[in-house]
Amino acid sequence: GAAVEADIGALKPGEKMTVEWRGKPVWIVRRTPEQLEGLKKLNDQLADPDNQRKAYPIPEYAKNEARSIKPEYLVVVGICSHLGCSPSDKFQAGAQPSLPADWPGGFLCPCHGSTFDMAGRVFKNKPAPDNLEVPPHMYLSDSKLLIG
Ligand code: FES
Repeated sequence: GAAVEADIGALKPGEKMTVEWRGKPVWIVRRTPEQLEGLKKLNDQLADPDNQRKAYPIPEYAKNEARSIKPEYLVVVGICSHLGCSPSDKFQAGAQPSLPADWPGGFLCPCHGSTFDMAGRVFKNKPAPDNLEVPPHMYLSDSKLLIG
C-alpha cells in the first residue's frame, strides 16, 4: 500500500495527531517525560508488556519499552485489537470522572472498556487480546515521518 508522510514538526508534548494509512487511523503521540516515566511502572498490570505475542508483527525497532524508534514519539494504529473500535485518548486520568479507578490513562476503548497505556499496551483482564499495532515507519527528518 501507499506510504503516507506525516509532518510532526508542530506536535507539542502531550499532543496527538492522526493520519490515515491504508484506511486506518495512525496515531502519532508526542509523549511527555512524565508519560514515558509512567510506562516503567505498569508492566505487571499489562497483558503483554514485552510484545511477546505474535498477532501483530512488531517491527524490530519498536521492540523496546517505549515501543517506538524515538521514545518521545509513539506511532500506533488506533484500532482496538478486540473488535476494531477506535479507542479514545485519555491522557489525564485524574481529570476524567468516568475512568476506571486503577487506570493511569492512555487510551480507552468505548465499545467494551479495554484500556491501553501510553505505549498502546493493553491492560490485563480486558477483552482486547493484544497491544495496539505499530505500523512500519521511519523518520525522513526530525519533523517528517513516513508511515508504511
Ligand atoms: Fe475495543 Fe471491544 S472493540 S474493547
